[in-house]
Amino acid sequence: MKMKPLSLLFSHFLVIVLTTSYVPVDAFTRSDFPEDFLFGAATSAYQWEGAVNEDGRTPSIWDTFVHSDRPGITGNGDIASDGYHKYKEDVKLMAEMGLESFRISISWSRLIPNGRGFVNPKGILFYKNLIKELKRHGIEPQVTLYHYDHPQSLEDEYGGWVDRKIIEDFTAYADVCFREFGEDVKLWTTINEATIFATGSYGQGLGPPGRCTPNILVNCPTGNSSTEPYLVGHNVLLAHASVYKLYKLKYKSKQRGSIGFSIYALGLTPATNSKDDEIATQRAQTFLYAWLLKPLVFGDYPDEVKRTVGSRLPVFSEEELEQVKGSSDFLGLIHYTTFAVTNRYSPSTIFPMDVEGFTKDMGVYVSPIGNSTFFASEPAPWGLEDTLEYLKDSYNNPPIYILENGARLESHSILQDTKRIDYMKGYIGAVLNAIKNGSDMRSYLIWSMVDLYELLGGYSSSFGLYYVNFSDPGRKRFPRLSVSWYTGFLNGTIDVAPQDTIQLKRNFSSYSSL
Ligand SMILES: *[C@@H]1O[C@H](CO)[C@@H](O)[C@H](O)[C@H]1NC(C)=O
Ligand SMILES: *[C@@H]1O[C@H](CO)[C@@H](O)[C@H](O)[C@H]1NC(C)=O
Ligand SMILES: *[C@@H]1O[C@H](CO)[C@@H](O)[C@H](O)[C@H]1NC(C)=O
Ligand SMILES: *[C@@H]1O[C@H](CO)[C@@H](O)[C@H](O)[C@H]1NC(C)=O
Ligand SMILES: *[C@@H]1O[C@H](CO)[C@@H](O)[C@H](O)[C@H]1NC(C)=O
Ligand SMILES: *[C@@H]1O[C@H](CO)[C@@H](O)[C@H](O)[C@H]1NC(C)=O
Repeated sequence: MKMKPLSLLFSHFLVIVLTTSYVPVDAFTRSDFPEDFLFGAATSAYQWEGAVNEDGRTPSIWDTFVHSDRPGITGNGDIASDGYHKYKEDVKLMAEMGLESFRISISWSRLIPNGRGFVNPKGILFYKNLIKELKRHGIEPQVTLYHYDHPQSLEDEYGGWVDRKIIEDFTAYADVCFREFGEDVKLWTTINEATIFATGSYGQGLGPPGRCTPNILVNCPTGNSSTEPYLVGHNVLLAHASVYKLYKLKYKSKQRGSIGFSIYALGLTPATNSKDDEIATQRAQTFLYAWLLKPLVFGDYPDEVKRTVGSRLPVFSEEELEQVKGSSDFLGLIHYTTFAVTNRYSPSTIFPMDVEGFTKDMGVYVSPIGNSTFFASEPAPWGLEDTLEYLKDSYNNPPIYILENGARLESHSILQDTKRIDYMKGYIGAVLNAIKNGSDMRSYLIWSMVDLYELLGGYSSSFGLYYVNFSDPGRKRFPRLSVSWYTGFLNGTIDVAPQDTIQLKRNFSSYSSL
């Protein structure tokens, strides 16, 4: 059995079991948030839709990845939560819950089966129907264009994101999406959690397409962990900027939407209060955030990354720099948990196999906080607050959409998910605290609306507010307790009380000073 713990760094495959409950410091209700702030839930195409061979869809790299014989893969998204057939039912459940927004992604290979050229009318129809259904129920769609799933045909043809050819194909795909859906969709995210996509899928081989230097622990068939994460990060930025430009020139004046970039936003805190660990934490921020955000906001990579990575880091031309700089209307965050940073490099249990790439370049040790383990991570809403504070101060207070935040249950069958409710209270409270301190927060989406097929853990990773019976061909949904909590919070009848404020603050600071 090859290592599984590696999973840690990935978002929805983060293995979180809650061990302590956390309630935010101040009492609050929905009405303490700005009126146009959007509360909702999230999914992605491959994890929710199923129907992988229906109506003209062709395989994406995610289909190929999970149908390979790699160790550690459990199940596949062939049927998933059957969202393709059950979308009306799900939208009805969302409306009953009072969700204000719902995040989907579009399956590129459902819309454009060969990656470029022919546009599949049935693909268009599905997304139009889904988006109309959301709008009809007053739910604002948030759409991600790319979520680990470009058409396999493009991977076969030129290696997908490792080749610049993808920029043109991705832009043409985005063009179709804006043209067909842009009348109803105002919030677009280009790439899902770009930082971890580049490092996890191309450095550690953990996500599709599963590339890394062959013969390290995960035994990728092909790849180069020391170069490809940077190459992919570079091409992702260029593709994002190209799509931003297209929208601005061709659609923005009539559709009036926004285009954002998204990153995996791991909370980072010094392991001790030593100067060394503080410096190490800044270095981790430079690699996990500034690497892609600095070019996006200010132009060009951080000097520290340039110095460390040297010739393995691609170089922007003057023209590209100009195009990348300022090419995002907002920042999308995928945030689940916080890790402690120590000023020493060792191939930690979190990145055991990335011996020559990104993690080594970063050169620090990151590990779960407190009593957290790989399978039991403690909620740390203060870690989200710190992250939001860092982003506000370092990147000119960008508008921020939390595109994913959530907690995995110890067991799929749990319906009384009180620990998840505590988790949500804590993290929603953290967002409110950030708003009060000046962060430009726009949205909070819980991952996930219903149980999904997860990148790691498959069907045993339960992030859904709704339980889905995956043994049942009908994929019946059952509400967990969190559904009624979220419903009550959103309709204003449930507030988060100021109980035990003093003890809570004390607990909060005991976490903060770990
Ligand atoms: C990865 O690329 C670097 C730089 O081109 C090269 O030196 C190294 O040998 C490559 N590693 C593998 C395993 O191909
Ligand atoms: C961590 O676990 C130990 C042993 O179970 C316990 O004594 C301690 O209180 C725990 N710490 C926190 C912060 O929960
Ligand atoms: C609130 O924002 C100010 C200004 O950015 C900053 O100095 C301060 O540390 C922040 N407070 C907290 C609790 O994050
Ligand atoms: C799940 O579905 C299976 C197969 O239809 C059924 O036997 C089982 O009772 C269902 N479980 C629940 C909790 O409804
Ligand atoms: C608000 O939501 C709760 C569920 O938590 C529900 O019982 C109640 O009927 C709802 N109230 C209104 C006014 O919609
Ligand atoms: C604070 O932490 C202690 C020890 O972990 C725990 O027993 C207590 O329930 C916590 N208090 C609150 C209000 O969460």
